[in-house]
Parts: sequence; C-alpha cells; structure tokens
Amino acid sequence: MAVILDGKAVSAKVREQLKLEVKRMKENGITPGLAVVIVGEDPASQVYVRNKEKGCEEVGIYSEKHALPAETTQAELLALVEKLNKKPEIDGILVQLPLPKHIDEKAVIEAISPEKDVDAFHAANVGKIMINDYQFLPCTPAGVMELIKETGIEVCGKECVVIGRSNIVGKPMAMLLLHSSGTVTICHSRTKNLAEVTRRADILIAAVGKAKFVTGGMIKDGAVVIDVGMNRDENGKLCGDVDFESVAPKCSYITPVPGGVGPMTISMLLKNTVAAAKSKAQ
Ligand code: GUN
Repeated sequence: MAVILDGKAVSAKVREQLKLEVKRMKENGITPGLAVVIVGEDPASQVYVRNKEKGCEEVGIYSEKHALPAETTQAELLALVEKLNKKPEIDGILVQLPLPKHIDEKAVIEAISPEKDVDAFHAANVGKIMINDYQFLPCTPAGVMELIKETGIEVCGKECVVIGRSNIVGKPMAMLLLHSSGTVTICHSRTKNLAEVTRRADILIAAVGKAKFVTGGMIKDGAVVIDVGMNRDENGKLCGDVDFESVAPKCSYITPVPGGVGPMTISMLLKNTVAAAKSKAQ
C-alpha cells in the first residue's frame, strides 16, 4: 500500500517559514500584498478564492478581494487590473479563472504587470519558465514539485508522464520535470494507448479534470502518483482524477484529494507573493 503524501502537512511547513519571513519583512517596513479578483458566482472559484484569502491571513500577507458581478465588462476588468498594477500596497495580482465567456482571458492575463503576475500566467513569465530563468513558478506545478521532493525520490532520469496539456498545469508541469532532468511524456485526450504510456511512468501526474479517470491498470508497480484533479463524483463528493481505491495498492506514494496538491498550490501562491514584495523592495 502506498504512502500518502500529506499536502496539508507539507503546506503547513512552507507556511510556517513564510510566516517568519513576512514577520521579518514587516519589521523592515514591508508588508507583502495580494489582490484577488473574482468575476461572477462560480461556487468552486469562490471556495478557491476564500482559501487564498485565508492563506494570506495565516502568514500575515495583506490581501484584498475584488468580487465583481458576472456582467462586468472586459473594459471594466482591465481598468481594475490597471489600477492594481499601479497600487503600491499590492505586490501580487491574481485573477481567478475561468472568467465569464464574454471576457477574453488572454487579454486580461496579458494586462497584469509581469512583476505582479504571481500565477506566472503572463506570456513573459511563461517564456522565462521555458528557459529556466524565472521569478515565479506557476503555483500548482511548483506545489507538485515540492510534494515529489518530499518522497526523497530523484526526478533525474525517471520516466515522468503528465496527463493533461493545459497552460495552467500540464504544459508548465512537464517543463519543471524536464528541468529536473526527467524523461517527460505529455498525454492528452487524443493520446493512443494511454494506459500503455502511463504504465511506463515512474512518476505520474494526473491533470485531466475527469473524476477517477486514472485506474489501477494504468499504473506501474511502485510509481509515484500525483493527483491534480478536483472533481465531484456521482454522489457529489470531492474526488481527484485518480481512482484512489484501485491505484493506491499499486504505487509507492500517492496524493489524496482533498488534502494533496490543493493546499500546496495556495502555499506556492503565498510564496510568490512574498517573492514579489521582496524583489520590489530591492
Ligand atoms: N483557476 C483554477 N486554478 C487557478 C489558478 O491556479 N489560478 C487562477 N488565477 N485561476 C485558477
């Protein structure tokens, strides 16, 4: 049976460190600040935003929430981003995705000042990640790397398989594993013989967005399995992309949902916000 990678516990350690760091910064007159922008009433987004605010409070980061109605126009949202770009108390800006259909997400992301882009979604930051010379790492992939580190298993030379090719997780995840010298395969909805590919993985990252998609038959014995998914099962219960019941007996380490990658994502956001405040102060 696998060891469960406790994202809450690892996350608590990161936050303890950040708390000390923020305390020292405050003694020097610097308070890191994060602005979180949410448009509309999407219930999942509301939960994520609340957890981000709670995280800020926990480590002493100043945060402000801008909750805008679903009918907000693109111009109104861009005007707010512009205001936050100029606001001295704000070091990080996070616009919660997805945005309502009538708003062009790409235009909004590109409007965020790259120095305040704590999600690392701006093209300038994505480009920097490609060349391994970055200020911010995208939060979810960075959190996954921390959890892999926790296993003590070296990524170098390992077969790493990422299922999912999104800009938020799949693509940057593959890049970080590559920078750690993993042999990386990205799978997606058009991949042929998916199980054949995933069975080669020493490290398997599931970022598909489909409940319990990865099953025991897709796993190599002793693999490390990281579940980025956050779905509801047929009974409305939170579950990941991995079918925990059939996968856990086959692998060496596995992340639970909830309590795996989720808390790490928020801790990495807090870390990026602190880094942004520090770099501004230099
Ligand atoms: N929606 C789902 N995940 C994320 C994330 O990491 N950042 C933002 N801004 N929106 C999201």
